[in-house]
Amino acid sequence: MSGLEDVVACETSICRIAVEEDRGVLEYRGYDIHELAKNSSYEEVAFLLLFGDLPSKSEFESFKEELAMKRELPPQIIGLLTHLPPFTHPMVVLRTAISYLGSMDKHIQYKSHERSIEKSISLIAKFPTIVAYFHRIRTGQNLIHPREDLSHAENFLYMLHGEEPTETMAKSLDLDFILHAEHELNASTFAARIAASTLADMYACIVAATGTLLGPLHGGASQKVMEMLREVAVPWRAESYVREKLENGERIMGFGHRVYRKVMDPRTIELKILAKKLADEKNPKWYQISEAIEEAVYKYKGLLPNVDFYSASVYANLGIPDDLFVNIFAIGRISGWCAHVIEQYENNRLIRPRAEYVGSQQRRYVPLSDRE
Ligand code: CMC
Repeated sequence: MSGLEDVVACETSICRIAVEEDRGVLEYRGYDIHELAKNSSYEEVAFLLLFGDLPSKSEFESFKEELAMKRELPPQIIGLLTHLPPFTHPMVVLRTAISYLGSMDKHIQYKSHERSIEKSISLIAKFPTIVAYFHRIRTGQNLIHPREDLSHAENFLYMLHGEEPTETMAKSLDLDFILHAEHELNASTFAARIAASTLADMYACIVAATGTLLGPLHGGASQKVMEMLREVAVPWRAESYVREKLENGERIMGFGHRVYRKVMDPRTIELKILAKKLADEKNPKWYQISEAIEEAVYKYKGLLPNVDFYSASVYANLGIPDDLFVNIFAIGRISGWCAHVIEQYENNRLIRPRAEYVGSQQRRYVPLSDRE
């Protein structure tokens, strides 16, 4: 019961996660994550999550076109990004910008399925632009405006770095977005659904989710993993580092999972392969340290890496700054959040659980004048 472990809080047809025959299972709308990772694209997965089925060729083309057209930000949002202190965490920036986008939407309240889809597509399209623009503003670089001819992942890397990414880089980030797009009732998605159950507007639901994702026990773990990789610095130090941390009762970031527990998170399987591929082509250092840490954590605590662990070395090799790691997670997850908000709106009952009261009862009020 603590932490709502194993409590089923709602029905969903968006995502299934399970442990079956000692194997972690993850399916988006019934499609296995490994099959999607191999064959799909982030845009297609976003369509699948929002609409429930894979798109036809023409549906896919018009969905991609609509996403690409909605990438640019209103000037007010760019103004906001220039006014926020440059030391603001980019996830704080993201949630502030989402809230501001809500203030500019005259039809903010939930009205219909069509309106919710429209808002979702706009948010999915704008997330990468908010992140890339803020990063360029805080580092004193000119803004690189989105291009409609590039894919979601390609365009993000182009806006961030100011040059078109190689095919390997774009494909790697696309795969990462697919793997992060959805994960049932994780903390941030639950936060979004709780907000949606009050019929709060879409932006409020996504702000709730974005704020929740930043916590280090959730998406914030990937940035902490990178801090650890930098601290360990060389593979041979991994074992003593891990032993010492565990002896001090500290948690190793990027390890453990509430649902998968003793089986490998299926996303980790894909991310480890991706991290190795990028390590072979770019810098092998982060992958080598990661592997040594993985071995040591398993040896001393029997824990397996989760989605945030190998993401860190993938992002480092894509040239993404450490404090944007959680934002990359959010850019992928926004499609899953929106799908859940819509599902909640359309089969809604207020989420209002109970708490077991364990505090004092029936205390006698003593007036302030009679207290010491
Ligand atoms: N390092 C060291 N020990 C751990 C860790 C860890 N990362 N994770 C779990 N444990 C231990 C914990 O101390 C406990 O040990 P014992 O039984 O000896 O007291 C046992 O494993 C069970 O832990 P728990 O706290 O009951 O597990 P939980 O289901 O409540 O927590 C978790 C899940 C993900 C919050 C936790 O594993 C953790 O804190 N991991 C590190 C942060 C992290 O990587 N978060 C990303 C989560 S996955 C993706 C996402 O959602 O973003």
